[in-house]
Amino acid sequence: MVKPEVFVENAVKEIRDKVGDGKAIIALSGGVDSSVCTVLAYKAIGDRLYPVFVDTGLMRAGEPERVKEIFGKMNLRFIDAKEEFFEALRGVTDPEEKRKVIGELFVRVFERVAEEVEADYLIQGTIYPDIIESQGGIKSHHNVGGFPTHYSFKGVIEPLRELYKDEVREVARYLGLPEEISERMPFPGPGLAVRVVGEVTPEKIEVVRKATEIVEDELRDVEKWQAFASLIGKATGVKGDIRVYGYIISIRAVESRDGMTADPLRLDYDMLRKMALRITGEIPEVVRVVYDITPKPPATIEYE
Ligand code: XMP
Repeated sequence: MVKPEVFVENAVKEIRDKVGDGKAIIALSGGVDSSVCTVLAYKAIGDRLYPVFVDTGLMRAGEPERVKEIFGKMNLRFIDAKEEFFEALRGVTDPEEKRKVIGELFVRVFERVAEEVEADYLIQGTIYPDIIESQGGIKSHHNVGGFPTHYSFKGVIEPLRELYKDEVREVARYLGLPEEISERMPFPGPGLAVRVVGEVTPEKIEVVRKATEIVEDELRDVEKWQAFASLIGKATGVKGDIRVYGYIISIRAVESRDGMTADPLRLDYDMLRKMALRITGEIPEVVRVVYDITPKPPATIEYE
């Protein structure tokens, strides 16, 4: 990558040239990619930018509130679409289908907002590995392949399309974004939906959200690419002398340079045990916790 200051200057110019005197909306999730894009676009077109945060109901604990706090001063459109997303996901079990459903609904919501604010352009924080993985047919990353080919925008602008994650972080630091954003772990566009294997329900999402909070809390100081929880099925357990059929949570913690390949961390056994006890103790619906020791390849980092 060129120096961050040169990158920023070029990206701001690109956005300004493309949008002209029009308006744009940007899909803001609060992750490092979309946050950097939002700041770049705000520099380029100021109040003609409308960041849109869609509360899909599939975000981690506290995320929607944090976005409001950090970006609330801009023309932020905060859309509560939880019911719409859960409704659309009902009965969907195929991972690719899930991504398509979510990507499609995202675009429809954005289109609605774009129409309301009369924006012609959609700006997205797509980065290089997203494009490669979607082209390679590995997965439809929701901000690339999951998007329908017909949309009503004049154009889609992706200022970060040539950057790797570590380069985006460098730009984030240069732009002075808070550390909680510049150093934030990657989080998939379709959110916790791809961390529930099989059908998504509000109950399962709540379980995986609580487990994620515990894993993030316990592994806060461990150096990593990502650490998270997924709900991977059901199993028999015993709680308070009663046999129960509850959820299985898988912990995944990996190191990686760019997300294209990954290695599981050799976590300390006591640390793993503590997480298992906390997850089963604090979340009544969970009866079993496993640690995923598979590298990528052959596994992907996320379960779906
Ligand atoms: P996989 O599961 O493909 O993930 O090994 C590689 C990295 O990409 C993240 N990921 C996504 N990021 N939109 C994104 O912006 C998506 O749809 C998406 N799916 C996966 C994943 O968390 C990992 O860091």
